[in-house]
Amino acid sequence: MCGSGNSAILSPPTSSSDDRPSACCQTATTVSATAFKVRVWDLPTRLFHWTLAALVTGSFVSVKLGNMDWHGRLGYAVLALLLFRLVWGFASGGYSRFAAFVRGPGSIMAYLRGASHGPGHNPLGSLSVLAMLAALLFQASSGLFTNDDIAFEGPLSRYVSGALSSLLTTWHRRNETILIALVVVHVAAIVYYRLRLKQDLIGPMITGDALLSSPHQSSPDNLAMRLRALIIASACAALVAWLITV
Ligand code: HEM
Ligand code: HEM
Repeated sequence: MCGSGNSAILSPPTSSSDDRPSACCQTATTVSATAFKVRVWDLPTRLFHWTLAALVTGSFVSVKLGNMDWHGRLGYAVLALLLFRLVWGFASGGYSRFAAFVRGPGSIMAYLRGASHGPGHNPLGSLSVLAMLAALLFQASSGLFTNDDIAFEGPLSRYVSGALSSLLTTWHRRNETILIALVVVHVAAIVYYRLRLKQDLIGPMITGDALLSSPHQSSPDNLAMRLRALIIASACAALVAWLITV
């Protein structure tokens, strides 16, 4: 776990009601004279991310292969994950909290003019994160009301008129282009950071940790936080399971 085995405490925990990264049981640790190891992404956020990427890819592949049963199942799992992330944005600590990365136009302009920012999503990147979450939420929830005009109907389509189901199906299909564009920009930005700005964003999304040139507080990522995430994720899965069977 981040911070274990290294003793230098660089920044004391702050109050969790703070809108900066919240109270942590872990602190940044020195790993060399100039680099500080900071836990940026807690395990639940990392699992969320890579599972989301895999399931969204699976949703695309399954619909292109015409396997609507799997398309639906993968879509329900995406919906549960997104609900989890929405709650986790308030229930987590550190850099996964919405309060830590949702910024107004002033911060975005300042960032574009070269202002520095701490660990976590930068003010511009957070726009792309929010856009992806919103577009995916629309995709997964509209899917519940779709029909393919042949044999497949989303589980909630019978609760809306045929016209509304067709409209939502049309927008569900049209949103494909937006989703692809957002993911392409997302991955291109990460490659740009790596190649041009020499900043590795992928490593922290895998291991959780970033090596930074100045000390920053670590995100809390202990057993209690992980159990909290598990309970939230289970509740989100149960909610979606209930929704698709009502
Ligand atoms: C369908 C594919 C993908 C989707 C839908 C997706 C979505 C997202 C979302 C929603 C976040 C925000 C995470 C959070 O705060 O919870 C994120 C962050 C991130 N993603 Fe992806 N992602 C995808 C593919 C990838 C791939 C292929 C890579 C690696 C090349 C990648 C690397 C990252 C990294 C490094 C971050 C953190 C960025 C930062 O430090 O600000 N993603 N992604
Ligand atoms: C985030 C999750 C989802 C993604 C990324 C996604 C993606 C897509 C895409 C890209 C298409 C257009 C395919 C094409 O026209 O070639 C599509 C169509 C469709 N999707 Fe989804 N979908 C998701 C969730 C769902 C869910 C949960 C359901 C229903 C349970 C659903 C039902 C449908 C139906 C009925 C169509 C129309 C298929 C056709 O007309 O042949 N989708 N989806």
